[in-house]
Amino acid sequence: MAFKWPAGRGQTGRMAEEGVPVIRYEELPEGPAVVLLDQRRLPREETEWVCTDVPALVDAIQSLAVRGAPVLGIAGGYGVALAAARGDDVAGAAEQLANARPTAVNLAYGARLVEAAYREAERSGAGAAAARALAQARALHQEDAEGSARLAEYGSALLEELVPGGGLRILTHCNTGRLVSGGEGTALAVVKAVHRAGGLRRLWVGETRPLLQGARLTAYEAAKAGMAYSVLTDGAAGSLFASGEVDAVLVGADRIAADGSVANKVGTYPLAVLARHHRVPFVVVAPVTTVDPATAAGCDIEVEQRAAHEVTEGPWGRSGLSGAEGEEGRALAPVGAQAHNPAFDVTPSELVTAVVTDQGVASPVTAERLGELCSASRRQ
Ligand code: MRU
Repeated sequence: MAFKWPAGRGQTGRMAEEGVPVIRYEELPEGPAVVLLDQRRLPREETEWVCTDVPALVDAIQSLAVRGAPVLGIAGGYGVALAAARGDDVAGAAEQLANARPTAVNLAYGARLVEAAYREAERSGAGAAAARALAQARALHQEDAEGSARLAEYGSALLEELVPGGGLRILTHCNTGRLVSGGEGTALAVVKAVHRAGGLRRLWVGETRPLLQGARLTAYEAAKAGMAYSVLTDGAAGSLFASGEVDAVLVGADRIAADGSVANKVGTYPLAVLARHHRVPFVVVAPVTTVDPATAAGCDIEVEQRAAHEVTEGPWGRSGLSGAEGEEGRALAPVGAQAHNPAFDVTPSELVTAVVTDQGVASPVTAERLGELCSASRRQ
């Protein structure tokens, strides 16, 4: 079951100071729940979506109430903890959560990590195992926040090397800020660090068709952070590069294959091609949990295909997003039009200047260097 409530209900003082949490696990009088800042309704309203069981959370993941690779991992982890607390079938719940969306590897990683913690503690009884699962999910949440801070540090230092002198005009795509993270995000965490240091001249925000994660969510975060930013249509990026107004491109990733190929929101690959043509650094920022050694190459990454109506009718109406008054359900294409709607594309490593992870930077992006970064995280 899922229901909506006003943002912040039941929050502690500390949480209230930091803004509405993107995701939290709560013991409500009705039972345990995963509470999400509902990203489908942003920027129009800040409300929370309360999921009291795993099917509700899976639906929230698929309809993008919660989205973006790192926080999907956290959601997967809390989902398994929720199933354990309810006494549900934990293996079945982990399977459903891990497969709710196929591309972001963090989702399966988070679900499986917490499932393993539950299994390890199972011989001490179901109550102890559920407590162990929740502790593991909370630890994953905390580690992601700490990793996000390191991404900001490594990424901003790298930008100083690549484009010295400050006054940067950074182009980004999709949303990679606090809405996708236990902390300040991935690529947008780097932008925020540059902004705080006084080094950001302008953030160019690609609107990110068809569901407008850039225009709705990155612009919402940029405005809150007090950045100078402009939203552009995805098709306007080329002329922006041509007029010399982009100093660096910063994006996140949903899965990085062992060979360094990067799956990210559809529209990322054309930006990488443009950046190479115009000799602009193209930097990918992601926690090491987004690197998937089990996926050998870019062609092995499963790219999620989404419903045609997201393209033919726009993000409102059946997509369930909250638009301006009167926007709901407006058809853009003729009734019955077919659509091609991959949610992600894959950028080959040779177009990527650097991958910034929470364990360090890969530049050039090679399988060997990514392997080293993955081993560094396993040693901790
Ligand atoms: O379909 P979404 O909104 O979940 O896609 C999100 C992205 O593509 C992000 O760029 C990616 O998850 C990186 S965020 C760290």
